[in-house]
Amino acid sequence: MDTKSRYEELKSQIHFHNYRYHVLDAPIISDVEFDKLLNELKRIEADHPDWITPDSPTLRAGARPADRFDKVRHPAPILSLANAFGADDARAWLERISKIDDRVEKAKFVVEPKIDGLSIVLHYRDGVFVQGATRGDGEVGEDITSNLRTIRAIPLRIPVERSKKLPIPNYLVIRGEAFLPIQEFEELNRKLEEAGEKTYLNPRNTAAGSLRQLDPALTASRPLTLLVYQIIHSDGGKAPTSQWEILEYLKALGFPVTDVAKCFDNLESAIAYTETWDKKRDELPYEADGMVIKIDDLNLAAELGFVGKDPRGAIAFKFPAREVTTTLNNIGVAVGRTGVLTPYAVLEAVEIGGVIVERATLHNFDFIAEKDIRAGDRVLVKRAGEVIPYVIGPVTDARTGKEKKYIPPKTCPACKQPVEHFEGEVAWYCVNAACPAQLVRNVEHFVSRGAMDIVGLGIKIVEKLIEAGLVKDVADIYGLSREDILEAVTKKDRKTEKEPPGKVADNLLASIETSKSRSLARLITALGIHGVGEVSAGDLASHFGNLDALSKAGVDDLQQIEGIGPNIAEGIVDWFSRPFNKQVLKKLKAAGVWPKGEERGRKKEGALSGLTFVVTGTLPTLTRDGVKEFIESNGGKVTDSVSKKTSYLVLGAEPGSKFEKARSLGVKIIGEEELKKLVG
Ligand code: IVH
Repeated sequence: MDTKSRYEELKSQIHFHNYRYHVLDAPIISDVEFDKLLNELKRIEADHPDWITPDSPTLRAGARPADRFDKVRHPAPILSLANAFGADDARAWLERISKIDDRVEKAKFVVEPKIDGLSIVLHYRDGVFVQGATRGDGEVGEDITSNLRTIRAIPLRIPVERSKKLPIPNYLVIRGEAFLPIQEFEELNRKLEEAGEKTYLNPRNTAAGSLRQLDPALTASRPLTLLVYQIIHSDGGKAPTSQWEILEYLKALGFPVTDVAKCFDNLESAIAYTETWDKKRDELPYEADGMVIKIDDLNLAAELGFVGKDPRGAIAFKFPAREVTTTLNNIGVAVGRTGVLTPYAVLEAVEIGGVIVERATLHNFDFIAEKDIRAGDRVLVKRAGEVIPYVIGPVTDARTGKEKKYIPPKTCPACKQPVEHFEGEVAWYCVNAACPAQLVRNVEHFVSRGAMDIVGLGIKIVEKLIEAGLVKDVADIYGLSREDILEAVTKKDRKTEKEPPGKVADNLLASIETSKSRSLARLITALGIHGVGEVSAGDLASHFGNLDALSKAGVDDLQQIEGIGPNIAEGIVDWFSRPFNKQVLKKLKAAGVWPKGEERGRKKEGALSGLTFVVTGTLPTLTRDGVKEFIESNGGKVTDSVSKKTSYLVLGAEPGSKFEKARSLGVKIIGEEELKKLVG
């Protein structure tokens, strides 16, 4: 074969493999083989630069940066869409257009995902990609050809002419949506964060930013892709008469087309399908802000005409928004049980997906600094599923200059004591053990079910008792009189209370009394020492036997216990060294709250002997205590934190950071089923 023929053959092969890889997601050769073909092509082009045509696969990386984009007049208007917010809006649309043309009553409807990306227009002459533009104002867009060439899902030459025996139009102009898949977006942000660079707000902005900047090399580094859905102009090709045929035709030509689209005989079925995707939207690999419902018959759709730039023949059925912008009026700081200070945004009230949102988390002070979030900023807020609404970042373009830079507090907002920072942690802490804000959370934790389990001591009563100065630390609970409690009970909002105050007080006193006989492990848990959860508390209880011994333990003694690392050990020593806590212990002892460590008896032998387990997430049937008991009764050991010594991580739903840690250390990960199988 002569070099020229080989050259043409290589080009065809590379285009074909590009199509397999980027459009069909089904490559049939390896990356190495692909690179070999590409390198051979490059060598030939180096010898014969005059052979290079614009459709050469080597030209993906694009031309040099320019200082601005040229304008491109679209061959036909690039239209927008009217919105429908819910099924009734969609039905009203149908009613309106039925009045214009009664053929609508028998019309079919195509439903497609409405991708939240960037609308782009692609021009092909004799099958070769010659120009690509943004939508612009719908009449004139910007020529971003060089950038678009770097998107591998955009064929530089219409790929499958021979196999499908489809005539290639002399001139074809199509429209699609360019976007960054969610996973790629997250990956990109993760890398930027690691490199200490500014992260992006959302996939849409990233895609738009990557395409509307002048350096194609930067676009090439963003894993953008696209899906096409419309023919703007066609000469000499097939002329589909329905939207469904358009999708099939574009697909047959070798363009990437959504596989989520469906055609329905009536609007109700189209609506029902749309609503199923509202619930499943997280399954889509890209962000969709709704579904587009289109009249299938293109003639009918065209005859229906427009309202402004919106064709009457289609409607955007919007999903409830998850991301909205609103004004951040202020930044507040909440104090948690361990004294950790958490900043939150006080927002101009805004509806997100049917819920009014006035507060959103700002994660931590580093986050505010990184994103440079200022009071008065317009911010992007997201609320999805059950997670607490959170601020994504500021809309810096909307700044007026009146926004105020945020300076984190140097003192605790509740007790005004100086705040502290521990090495290796992002959080700031109020370390004043007598801080009233912490005290509320502390008491709440002390009386909780996994700790001292004091029934009837709800947050409202706790707040009243603290306010009245009757509770200054958790030990004061044991000194409360019936009168003290009555006072707090009558003071609290009793609208919803059914029982008389006297009964409430008696029940509470009884519950406080019962709690005196809780186990040592529970008391250690209840103390709320930083890093000590129920599992470590159990280990500490059985190792030391009583609080006197534990309070005297040094960092080295503590680290003898499996699962207690240097940080937790130091946290324990620090806790027992504080005068305030010493006082609390003294008072607890005096009140008779001084349990002895439960002998765990001789270590049980069993199928799990010698194995160490860490549990994370919610297991299908076993509770936290249940799984611990199961493992221990079979001779195994349960610890709180993952280390190289961990034999297995038992993984449940919604796991915490332990999962990542186990993965990174190569610890074996099993589920409840497999755990049971280990025992046989
Ligand atoms: S059809 C007449 N279909 O949504 C055709 N638009 O809010 C009008 N979009 O500007 C557009 N996915 O950028 C259509 N499957 C889809 C779409 C889609 C996303 C975008 C498009 C448009 C915007 C209108």
